Amino acid sequence: MSEKRVTFASKIGVVAAAAGSAVGLGNIWRFPSQAADGGGAIFILVYIGCILFFGIPLMVSEFMVGRASRSNTAGAYHKLAPGTQWKWVGRLGVLTGFVIMGFYMVVCGWTLIYIFQSISGHLAGVTDFSSNFIDLQTNPAKQIVWMTIFTLLTAFFILSGVKKGIEQSAKILMPLLFLLLIVLAIRSITLDGAAEGIRFLFKPDMSHVKPTLFLDAMGQAFFSLSLGMGCMITYGSYFNKRTPLVKTAIQVSMLDTLVAVLSGVVIFPAAFALTANPGTIVGELVAGGPGLLFITLPELFNQMPGSMIWSTLFFCLLALAALTSTISLMEVVTLYIHEEYRVSRKNSTLIVTAGVIILGIFASFSASFFNLLDVASAKFMLPIGGFFISLFVGWHLDRKLVYAQLTNERTLKFGIGFLRVYIFLLRYVVPTAVLAIFIYGLRA
Ligand code: TRP
Repeated sequence: MSEKRVTFASKIGVVAAAAGSAVGLGNIWRFPSQAADGGGAIFILVYIGCILFFGIPLMVSEFMVGRASRSNTAGAYHKLAPGTQWKWVGRLGVLTGFVIMGFYMVVCGWTLIYIFQSISGHLAGVTDFSSNFIDLQTNPAKQIVWMTIFTLLTAFFILSGVKKGIEQSAKILMPLLFLLLIVLAIRSITLDGAAEGIRFLFKPDMSHVKPTLFLDAMGQAFFSLSLGMGCMITYGSYFNKRTPLVKTAIQVSMLDTLVAVLSGVVIFPAAFALTANPGTIVGELVAGGPGLLFITLPELFNQMPGSMIWSTLFFCLLALAALTSTISLMEVVTLYIHEEYRVSRKNSTLIVTAGVIILGIFASFSASFFNLLDVASAKFMLPIGGFFISLFVGWHLDRKLVYAQLTNERTLKFGIGFLRVYIFLLRYVVPTAVLAIFIYGLRA
């Protein structure tokens, strides 16, 4: 552990790598189906509230814990709070990483399958996209093969090193994905009948409010920003001493939210415009569940000239966005095993890869196991992790250290008032709100 730790090479690299972790299937696949389930605009409003009140302060906290300790998620607590039980928060985070990868890799496999269905021209000939997706969902063998391939691909990047693997890929691919989403959004909102979809997305309708709305939105916020398991602790540990934590957290959160909302602007107008029977659309959206993206988008592509090219491009970029997220997830768990148990980086990667594939096999066979992993991580483990991380920074960390981290040793201009507000948020507001939402959501 005494070897000099690598740091990210450039400023843009820092934002790109953290944004690469945040932006992934959570934004483009999970967000639209959660938003559909949560009533569109209402969900989005609550979601944005969660980003502002919990997301950004927590992301700053994770960065801080990482950079102050220069260590993996669990090691961070050993260093900053030696001899205490805080290490369990780190261990919970590592476990959460496993659980997330268990179902996330399956969806990554779907993106690969859709790449091949695009290239082969299969998608261009499909007329019923729901049954196309259901065929896939009920074919465990196929899912297992592609899930395994994606997991191995991630492992390859983990082994090839931090800078080359994570930083370079993120820097080029994220902007490209963003551009493509803008093009698709324009196509989607100019379809006949798209207006209903826009309304669903931006006009709050109280009749859709569900008791679990807050927990769902909060879970999605944690999931999408990669918060609550120490992923951003691990990335923070690679930051250099000039990286501005608050600014980076704001930039990453804004980018991430923009991509999520943009995905909504692509999916919902298209879903409303292209549905056969508009009367039942909301029910259909919700029933589409985890398949929403994989059902609606190919349908949208088929409305465009050169559908094969669009869908190939889209699913390739989606797979790459997912890859920068799976790299971050696997990095957390691998670094933990590597640094805490003194296993070589290579063996540690192998252990993690095997574990993830085993979980992924179960998730491929059983949709309810898949859902269990999804719900357990997003609605339980991440909020619990976030709760403790905010307590850790708010109550345990020395204020001087927090201030030094926030201001990069007083080279950034944040007054003491800012520190007070930040500490107040982490001591009282974030933990209470997270706990309240959690308990309320469970009772609902
Ligand atoms: N945020 C990623 C996404 O939206 C997924 C992810 C990567 C993640 N690392 C994480 C989620 C850590 C929770 C915690 O797709």
